[in-house]
Amino acid sequence: MSMSFSRDVVIVGGCGRVGLPLGLVLADAGMSVTLYDVDANAVDRVRAGKMPFWERGADDLLERMIETERLDATVDPKSVSEAEHVVLVVGTPVDEHLNPDPKYVLLAIEGLLDQLRDGQHVILRSTVYPGVTAMVQKLLVAAKRTIDVSFCPERIAEGKALEELRSLPQIVSGRTERAVRRADAFFSTIAPSIVHLSPEEAELAKLFANTWRYIQFAAANQLFMIANDFGLDFGKIRDALKQDYPRLQGMPGPGLAAGPCLLKDTMQLAAFNNNNFTLGHASMMINEGLPMYMVSRLEREYDLPNMTVGILGMAFKAESDDTRDSLSYKLKRLLRFRAGRVLCTDPYAHHDVDLWPLEDVLAESDLLVIATPHKKYADLNVDVPVVDVWNLLGHGELV
Ligand SMILES: NC(=O)c1ccc[n+]([C@@H]2O[C@H](COP(=O)([O-])OP(=O)(O)OC[C@H]3O[C@@H](n4cnc5c(N)ncnc54)[C@H](O)[C@@H]3O)[C@@H](O)[C@H]2O)c1
Repeated sequence: MSMSFSRDVVIVGGCGRVGLPLGLVLADAGMSVTLYDVDANAVDRVRAGKMPFWERGADDLLERMIETERLDATVDPKSVSEAEHVVLVVGTPVDEHLNPDPKYVLLAIEGLLDQLRDGQHVILRSTVYPGVTAMVQKLLVAAKRTIDVSFCPERIAEGKALEELRSLPQIVSGRTERAVRRADAFFSTIAPSIVHLSPEEAELAKLFANTWRYIQFAAANQLFMIANDFGLDFGKIRDALKQDYPRLQGMPGPGLAAGPCLLKDTMQLAAFNNNNFTLGHASMMINEGLPMYMVSRLEREYDLPNMTVGILGMAFKAESDDTRDSLSYKLKRLLRFRAGRVLCTDPYAHHDVDLWPLEDVLAESDLLVIATPHKKYADLNVDVPVVDVWNLLGHGELV
């Protein structure tokens, strides 16, 4: 079947955080990969061998893969008809009311109908609202295309994508046996093992994975707030609980739990279950409420209106340049309302134009808040108080 195609794979949304690392790993495994993306700036950067965002180990690999010509990037949708496998990784955000909208994947497929050809294999890899895989197949059947459809969710953590794509099992599901066979063969080239589910199970599995982490972070955050309200050090309690006690090794620490996936996918699951998801909604209240909790505690302790507060870290997680849905910005908004002045800094978030160099923030602030636990903040040596919910400095997290 592959005889009639000039490329092995095209990735739709291929210059994004999920698509580009996947393209790199597939090209490195010997496949010819086209990254198709509507973002012309990102495509230009990738073609020039430059990563549009930070990902460990990706700079060198991208340069090498572009040189070999196994990897290419384009804004031309016609590229989609040239490849046997069409991987779709476009973003699937919830709207401003936190409602999921299954349309993004369907619109992308509809927009590509003229390019999609019989004999192709469409692999959905965006995190989708349950049922979208079946809807995609229906759409293709209605358009009279003989195309295999599989859903193979992405479970990497940003920053560790290259390593995790090659070391974690791949969940594979397909609408037909042939789709499953083709997806198995495709992912066997990079993943150490394959786990099979039906498409509906796999769609739920991906949402469960992110929701589970979101609930765990909420549990830690709520226990932290309880301990803190009683003037007790949650970090010390947690360390004591984990010491030589295997059952609690997975207990996360507190911190601003945010980013483009966890809340969004918890809300997708809530909507799918007719908004009957008490634990998910409670987790949202806790995690999204942490910045306000911190600020109200600080208001009690300090004369905020007459102080300059420095926020250290704007990315949604450590050592990342990804500021999407970062709670640092919620913290900034709240503090702008209540403090005399707010200064923000981050070593990686270069696209944020409202940042100050770290030295200036340290020199001018009366109070510092570590919002993102970037390693470089671990050896801060300052005289002003530092709010450290992450316990990065090892002094206990009391706010
Ligand atoms: N970021 C993660 O760590 C992660 C992990 C697992 C799953 N996911 C899921 O993967 C999907 C993509 O996430 P992401 O973080 O890579 O998003 P992203 O915004 O970084 O990447 C999406 C890319 O798709 C492009 N795009 C959008 N519509 C397009 C279209 N119609 N045709 C071609 N290109 C188009 C965008 O320009 C962008 O480059 C989401 O469903 C997300 O939930 C993300």
